[in-house]
Amino acid sequence: MNSSDDFAAEAGLDPARLPAHVAIIMDGNGRWAKKRMLNRVKGHEKGADTVRMAVRASRELGIAALTLYAFSTENWQRPETEISALMTLLKRFLKSEKQEMLDNNIRLNVIGEMERLPGSVTSLLEETMQASENNSGMVLNLALSYGARSEIVRMVRQLSALVAAGTLSPEAIDEKMVSNHLYTRDIPDPDLLIRTSGEMRISNFLLWQIAYSEIHITDTLWPDFNREEFIEILKDYQGRDRRFGNVKTP
Ligand code: FPP
Repeated sequence: MNSSDDFAAEAGLDPARLPAHVAIIMDGNGRWAKKRMLNRVKGHEKGADTVRMAVRASRELGIAALTLYAFSTENWQRPETEISALMTLLKRFLKSEKQEMLDNNIRLNVIGEMERLPGSVTSLLEETMQASENNSGMVLNLALSYGARSEIVRMVRQLSALVAAGTLSPEAIDEKMVSNHLYTRDIPDPDLLIRTSGEMRISNFLLWQIAYSEIHITDTLWPDFNREEFIEILKDYQGRDRRFGNVKTP
């Protein structure tokens, strides 16, 4: 057993049946703050601590990929002050967690329109991605200025350019090729999608990739989400019967 297996077994999980990829829609920061009569930014700040917990717990348990929906294409419509606070928090996170990511063999990856982010954020992201590019313990995928529809449009444009250039025949386009032209090309599809704050929505997140993901929605607001609940959700996942459209074999 390696140390991740020990952690998982101690938590009551079967290390062999952990989801390889967990994706999380981190929702409820604003409501968490409102309940306490605080500014929304305080909710995001507390939410950033939960991000640290989720990354650490995933790595310790042996989850191979964690994708966090940190900023959607729609989030650009929020007030300038909130966007700016989120970017500042992201920079703070990257600065404070870089060494921990490197020490723990975590590779940072970004999915989304990275070019739309402020230069000070992109340079920190690029620096951390480059420093961690050979890490193999876990991939932390941050979805930033991410929208699944825009990702799909980008893929369609790439494939149609190849068709127009005569280097790709439409008949050769299959599911694998589509997957290979999405931001997530080198990561398996999520086995488990978690959404906090009780909203029953997908919110333009990984629309292609979640075709067969198990979905878990918890009422807990993201800043209150903790390691114990994360483990309980993983246990619930391990109790599910995943048939991928097939029937159960006797
Ligand atoms: C949703 O809550 C959350 C976001 C839009 C941003 C997520 C950001 C963080 C968790 C903190 C910073 C991130 C990193 C990676 C350090 P909401 O504001 O929509 O909440 P509400 O629905 O209750 O208003």
